[in-house]
Amino acid sequence: MSTLVVVGAQWGDEGKGKVVDAVAAEADVVARFAGGNNAGHTLVVEGRTLVTHLVPSGCLYPGTRCVLGAGMVIDPVVLAHEITTLRGLGLLANDELRVSLDAHVIFPFHIELDALREDAARQRGRAIGTTKRGIGPAYEAKAARRGIRVRDLFDRATLTERLGQNELQAAHEAERLGGRLGTGAREWLAHAEEWATWLAPIACDAGAFCHDAIVAGRRVLFEGAQGALLDVDHGTYPYVTSSSTIAGGACTGIGIGPTAIDGVWGISKAYATRVGAGPFPTKLASNGKDLIGDRLRELGAEFGATTGRPRDCGWLDLPALRHAARLSGMTGLAITKLDVLAALRKVEVCVAYEDGIDPGTHGLFSAKPRLQACEGWDDPDVLPQLRAARTLEALPAVARAYLDLVADATGVPIALVSVGASREETIAVARPFT
Ligand code: IMP
Repeated sequence: MSTLVVVGAQWGDEGKGKVVDAVAAEADVVARFAGGNNAGHTLVVEGRTLVTHLVPSGCLYPGTRCVLGAGMVIDPVVLAHEITTLRGLGLLANDELRVSLDAHVIFPFHIELDALREDAARQRGRAIGTTKRGIGPAYEAKAARRGIRVRDLFDRATLTERLGQNELQAAHEAERLGGRLGTGAREWLAHAEEWATWLAPIACDAGAFCHDAIVAGRRVLFEGAQGALLDVDHGTYPYVTSSSTIAGGACTGIGIGPTAIDGVWGISKAYATRVGAGPFPTKLASNGKDLIGDRLRELGAEFGATTGRPRDCGWLDLPALRHAARLSGMTGLAITKLDVLAALRKVEVCVAYEDGIDPGTHGLFSAKPRLQACEGWDDPDVLPQLRAARTLEALPAVARAYLDLVADATGVPIALVSVGASREETIAVARPFT
């Protein structure tokens, strides 16, 4: 097995940064296939916290090639900042980063339109709660065939024409929404020319790069962003992101065939969170102080790595997780933040929905969870024993039973368990590349 796809199995923020970091230790190439800087991967290494939004978590390993695939939308301002920060830490040497020529570029007007649309939608009570990073407008321009790809930055005639076309459309929309664009095509062209200078040496056919690596027997990790239930086709539409977040997105977002994928790990927290609008059947009440939802948010530091927004918290939703497992054909499950759950005295889990409702996309809008209480978490020894565990056998019995319940409900074996924020606090059950 030389390729593995790692995807989120909930609504994003499952702890992909830490899991990808663990798997990347054994990978030669780590390639991201979707989304942009709406994602935020928090990495804790030697007590230092790093957040990356674009560069895959493989950047922490010298020699590992990091690839941004064609399915991504890339804000060069953010990418330049990340490259500078990582190089300042002695990471990401010159030849370690590759950017697809076919990835789309986020310009300032995409970000402005995202914010104007959200503000207008909020007034009508219809906001999605986007990250306001320009993700939706950039993907929309791509589908409308007026998007600007990395390769277009090197073609002045196409670039000028395309920027002019976008300026007209964006200025008109901004005005209709009661706003005004801060900059125009002339400024965007100047930005684009500067971006082209430093993107030129790292831009390539990322699909061919990954294909060649696979053929040469290298271990390639395909890193997803967000989570299954935010997938534009299979998530809780319209409360979704604009890209394919499930494992199939690795094929289209990189440019490889399904037969090139050997395994798929899905990542789920031991509980559930969601940020932004949309259905969340197991959401727990919060009053900002002392309800279980508040406790989970506080213990799990559930605030967006990108926007800082507080996340809604709830119990683990097994029917939704089973659905996500099916969507991505998962071969392994990585369960994160089990220590956060263990810090609670009372734990519940959703085992089904009332009235036999199925989660399949629209079911989540009306699903009422049937909760099952999990006994035994109130023992004060559970948390220290759990955090010290480095094998499944060393886990407290109540945690093992919980993981068995998850594996049985989804039909997917546990591949990895995270019992704390640091790299060391990890139980590696299965080898990612075997
Ligand atoms: P967008 O991707 O910024 O357009 O936001 C669309 C929806 O996806 C909103 O509900 C966001 O909160 C959500 N979203 C986007 N990226 C992430 C992420 O990395 N974690 C969690 N939610 C996200």
